[in-house]
Amino acid sequence: MTLANKRILLIIGGGIAAFKTLDLIRRLRERGASVTPVLTRAGAEFVTPLSVAALAGSKVYTDLFDLTDEAEMGHIQLSRSADLIVVAPATADLMAKMAQGHASDLATTLLLATDTPVMIVPAMNVRMWDHAATQRNLATLRGDGIAVIGPESGDMACGEHGPGRMSEPLQIAAAIEGALSGGPLKGRRILVTSGPTHEPIDPVRYIANRSSGAQGAAIARALTALGAEVVFVTGPADTPPPGGVDLHRVETADQMLDACRAALPVDVAICAAAVADWRVASASSCKMKKTKGGLPQLELTENPDILATLSQPGPQRPALVVGFAAETDDVIENATAKRQRKGCDWIVANDVSPQTGIMGGSDNEVTLITDAGAEGWPRMSKDEVAARLAVRIAADLN
Ligand code: C5P
Repeated sequence: MTLANKRILLIIGGGIAAFKTLDLIRRLRERGASVTPVLTRAGAEFVTPLSVAALAGSKVYTDLFDLTDEAEMGHIQLSRSADLIVVAPATADLMAKMAQGHASDLATTLLLATDTPVMIVPAMNVRMWDHAATQRNLATLRGDGIAVIGPESGDMACGEHGPGRMSEPLQIAAAIEGALSGGPLKGRRILVTSGPTHEPIDPVRYIANRSSGAQGAAIARALTALGAEVVFVTGPADTPPPGGVDLHRVETADQMLDACRAALPVDVAICAAAVADWRVASASSCKMKKTKGGLPQLELTENPDILATLSQPGPQRPALVVGFAAETDDVIENATAKRQRKGCDWIVANDVSPQTGIMGGSDNEVTLITDAGAEGWPRMSKDEVAARLAVRIAADLN
C-alpha cells in the first residue's frame, strides 16, 4: 500500500479523458490513498457525480456556493486537507485559469487558496496543446512549482494525432507515488536509456531494430515510484514514455549519447536502450534514387557505445552503471564477459531465444550479474523485474 494514509484531492476537468480519471480513482484507492473528488461543471458533462462518488467512496464536491458544504467543510479547509492536489484531466481552459490566478468556481478557488503541492495531468486537442498561449501557461505553471505529467503522443479522440492525450492511470499513479512516497530513492537522479535508435540512410530511410522500449519504460516508472528523479532518454519506441520523468526523445545513437552526457551528473545510469551498433557512414542528404548502374553501396561505421562511455572512470562517472545483455546462448558466460568489457557495475542478462517468448512478450526471466557473481531471478512480468531492480538499486545506494 504505497499510498497508505495519503489524501488526494482530485479535480476532474471537462474533457473526454475524464473517463480515465475514474480508473485513476480505483488505482489510487488500491494503493491505500483516500480520494476526495471535485468535479468541475464541464467535468460533469463527461462523467457523472454518482459514478465518481461510488468509485471514490466519498462525497463529490461540485459547487463553490453550496452553503451546506461551507458549514461542513469550507473551501479553504478542503484545499489544505490533502497531501497532494491532482488535476486530471487538466484542460487548456483550466490551465489558463490557473496560470492567471482565477477563482471563478470551486476548482480554481481551491487551487488558488491551497498551500498543498499541485500536479496537473494535461489532456487536450494537439493544436490547443501546441498553441503559444497554452505553452506560455505551461511555462508559468511549471515556474509556480506545479508538477506536470504528460501529455502523451498518439491518436486522439478527436481523430488527430500528436501530443495531447492524457497519461494512463497507471503512469499517473506512479508519478503520484513518487511525489508522495518520499521513497528510498528520493533525492537521487537516475538516467535511463530506452527503446531502439533509428540510423538514417537518407531523409526517408533508416536502420532500426525491434526494441519496444517496454522494459526501459517499466524501469523508469518503478524508479519514479520510489521517489527518484528520472531522466528518460528514449529512441523512437512503441511503448509510450512514462509520466513524471524528465523526457528526452532522440533518434540516433549519437543524439542519445549527447542527451546522456547532458544529463550528467547522475547517481545511477541504466542503459536499457537497444542502440544500433552501426550507422551509415555518410547518410545521403537527399532521397537515394534507383539507378540503372546497380545497387547502392552502404558503408557502415561503428556507433558510440553509450554504456561503455558512461562506465569510463572519471569525476562524472555515476556511482552505479547498469547494462543489459540479451543473449541467445551461454547467457551467463557472455554477460559476465560483457560486464568486464563495458566496465559497468551490473548486467541484467536474459535469454532471448525465440522459445523463451521473452522478446516482445510481457514476461522476463533475468540473471543479475554483479561483482559478487550471477543471481538468477524467477520468471516474472517486466513490471516486476523493474520493481525488483529499483529496490536493489535503492539498497545499493543507501
Ligand atoms: O553490446 P551489446 O549491444 O550487447 O550491449 C548491450 C548493452 O549495451 C545494453 O545495456 C545497451 O543499452 C548498451 N549499449 C549502448 N550503446 C551501444 C550498444 C549497446 O549503450 N552502442
